[in-house]
Parts: sequence; C-alpha cells; structure tokens
Amino acid sequence: MSSEILAIKDWRHPFPVEGLSLTRPWYGAWHPWRLSVDQPLIKEVVGDLKGKRVLDVACNDAWYAFRYAQEGADAVGIDGRPEPIERAALIKNHFQLDNLKLLVGDIEDRSVPLGTFDVTLFYGILYHLADPITVLKRLGDITESVISVQTFIHALDPAPELKLIREPVEEEANGLTNLVTVPTQAAVADMLNFAGFDRVYRIMPNDYSLAKKNNSNAAEQWAFFIGIKGQKELKGPGIFEITRNSPPLNHFGPVSQVVARAKRAVKRLLGKF
Ligand SMILES: C[S@@+](CC[C@H](N)C(=O)[O-])C[C@H]1O[C@@H](n2cnc3c(N)ncnc32)[C@H](O)[C@@H]1O
Repeated sequence: MSSEILAIKDWRHPFPVEGLSLTRPWYGAWHPWRLSVDQPLIKEVVGDLKGKRVLDVACNDAWYAFRYAQEGADAVGIDGRPEPIERAALIKNHFQLDNLKLLVGDIEDRSVPLGTFDVTLFYGILYHLADPITVLKRLGDITESVISVQTFIHALDPAPELKLIREPVEEEANGLTNLVTVPTQAAVADMLNFAGFDRVYRIMPNDYSLAKKNNSNAAEQWAFFIGIKGQKELKGPGIFEITRNSPPLNHFGPVSQVVARAKRAVKRLLGKF
C-alpha cells in the first residue's frame, strides 16, 4: 500500500509515510504550525476530541481530518475535486482509519448531504468561493459548537467587504469557479455572526514567521478565526474578540502598512486591481 502512496509525487500535506513527496517542501512545517495555532483552542471549547464529529471542508488530501481522526474524532473530509480525495483514500486505508470518512462534493451545492458536527474546519477555502455567505450560513446550521476559519484576508481595510478575484480553476488548490471572493477581517466576523456563531475571535500567533516567509504581506495575509456557538470566552495572549466594527489587526508594522497602501494606490491609478 505505501508503494502506491510513494508513487504519487504531489502530496499537499505532510503525511507520516517515509519517502512521501510534498508538492512544496515547506508544507512539512506549514501545516503542523497551522494545526498548532487553533487546535488547542478548539479543544478548550469542545474538550477531548475522542468521538467528536469534525468536518474538514475543502480538505484536499485530508491531512487535517486525518490528524483529528488519529485523535479519535469521527472526521469527515469533503473536497470538490476527486483526485485529492482518491489520494486521501490511500492514506485512510494505509492507516486503517475507520473513523475517517471522505466525500467528493462542491460545498456550494446545498444538495450535498453532510450531517451535523461539533467542529468545522474551514481552511484555505473562504477565498476560493463565489458565495461564501451562503456556504457559511449552511455550515452555521450544521455546526453545533465551533468553526475554525483559516483564510487570506484583505488586511488594510476596516469595512466588511468581499473583493472579487479571478483565478484559474485548473490549479488543484483553487476554487471550482473562476470568480471568487477575498474578505476583510470585518467581513469574516460579520459572516460568522450571520451564520449563527455568537462570538468570533481573531488569533494572532506570536510566531508568524512561516506565514511571512510564504506569501503573507501587509495588504493580504493569512489569518486565523474561531467562531463559537454560545458564550464561552476564549482568553490568552494573541486572542482578540472581534465584530464587524473592530479595527483590522495586522501582522505587519505601521511602516509596512503605509508602503502597502502606497503600492495599492499606484496600482489603482494604473487601473490594476
Ligand atoms: C488551498 S486548498 C486547501 C486545502 C486544505 N483545506 C488546507 O487548508 O490545507 C483548497 C481546496 O479547496 C477545494 N475546493 C475549492 N472549491 C471547493 C468547493 N466549492 N467545494 C469543495 N472543495 C472546494 C480544492 O479542490 C482544494 O483542494
């Protein structure tokens, strides 16, 4: 079985199979870091993961669902493309994880049956959707406790806005439609409230160096959010409760932000958006 896994040369996540080829070597550190930022907070909300129902939306080859399944959760990974789900099925069989379920389905298609969950992971997908409001509303209906959102945001703008972006559907990591939206912090807070999450937190990890090294900048950056049903309060360094009216938090200092604003103004003057 591991020979089939090793024959594939474009794994997007670092599964613990010796000799596995990652599409990009830095994925080996990137994904564990992302897991380390929000999983402790998720556990603070729902407790022990054993038996918890966890949905990994747009899971690609389903590493996050796999990690939750390894901790005893009943994990479901869904992705709109069959190829990554076929890779994930090899991993499921290799590790004999009966508590990991895999589905191919477009999350924008409401007729795809999902079930109900304690925890929903919404990673690397918000900025690849044409209609994130409807998708988050549906996830709010089926998530009983907590949603964790990891997404690129437009980080300079305070207003709740979605910016329209064109991206090619041929790339496996992209959306299924060629027109997608990128939110601001305020838009994420507002959409999560609208979807039924009572409290929304932005997590600003102390060590953000991996995100800076990859492709975050003062104008567009990787951001962590937790939405909670009920009134449980999350407290600690780098944890900020936010609403649509909160000033945007930025991982870069004021000088970088001024430079980013100036670059954006020049681009706009040149008619480039
Ligand atoms: C950037 S990858 C994110 C993978 C993983 N969630 C992570 O954070 O590492 C985006 C994934 O979303 C999937 N995807 C894009 N649009 C989707 C949709 N409408 N429904 C389900 N999956 C979608 C893509 O096939 C791709 O595997």
